[in-house]
Amino acid sequence: ERPRPLVAGNWKMNGTRAATKTFAAILEGCDAALRSKVDLLVCAPATLTYVFAVAAVGTPVKVGGQDCHAATHGAHTGDISAAMLADVGASYVIVGHSERRTDHRETDEMVKAKARAAITAGLTPIVCVGETREERDAGRALAVVGAQLAGSMPEEAAREPVVVAYEPVWAIGTGLTPTVADVAEMHGFIRQSLVDRFGAAGRNMRLLYGGSVKPGNARELLGVAEVDGALVGGASLVAEDFLAIARAYM
Ligand code: G3H
Repeated sequence: ERPRPLVAGNWKMNGTRAATKTFAAILEGCDAALRSKVDLLVCAPATLTYVFAVAAVGTPVKVGGQDCHAATHGAHTGDISAAMLADVGASYVIVGHSERRTDHRETDEMVKAKARAAITAGLTPIVCVGETREERDAGRALAVVGAQLAGSMPEEAAREPVVVAYEPVWAIGTGLTPTVADVAEMHGFIRQSLVDRFGAAGRNMRLLYGGSVKPGNARELLGVAEVDGALVGGASLVAEDFLAIARAYM
């Protein structure tokens, strides 16, 4: 039996209070038919997390953060802890997104510590992995992702919910996507690595694909074996597009 699919939006550094309208349209669009097939999540910028979480109370739509600090509190100017996200109503947090790994030089070790902090705070971490174009062209995609998984996944994943998102860096925001065969190969590889390390928990873990998922390619990408949902960037900023991607499961 497959895990229940998850379609997650990552708004990145986009959205002011005016975007509450977009979020309201997502809440409205998540009707009984859709919610019976798929879980929906919006990872808002930190400034909007609380207001979105309040708006989502009583709906099936979940709200998440895009990053958290590994510590619970303290002298870390500009950072936000997992406990703070949980406190305002978040239930997920993305960790190790390629933009964090690049812009903030986050290492696998840091990502693992963040994932662990998320679990401790009662959040489900979404651990992101993915190869660059150069790494794929050099035939190293599986090795790179395998090493990222080994270094970024916390031991707690054997007993606590963790989501993995495979996002080829070269597919993010570019309109490019891997072939169905390449997605199938990578997700099969990730599944096997997770089962080898975490046993039954690895079999049930949700594996998302991310990178230029759009309404027009969602059905194809989400239909690939071992793909249990999507992590959607640009298209999640438009309620109709985000909902159309989720409806690929209907
Ligand atoms: O977290 C989301 C991804 O980075 C994908 O972004 O859908 O804009 O390519 P994108």
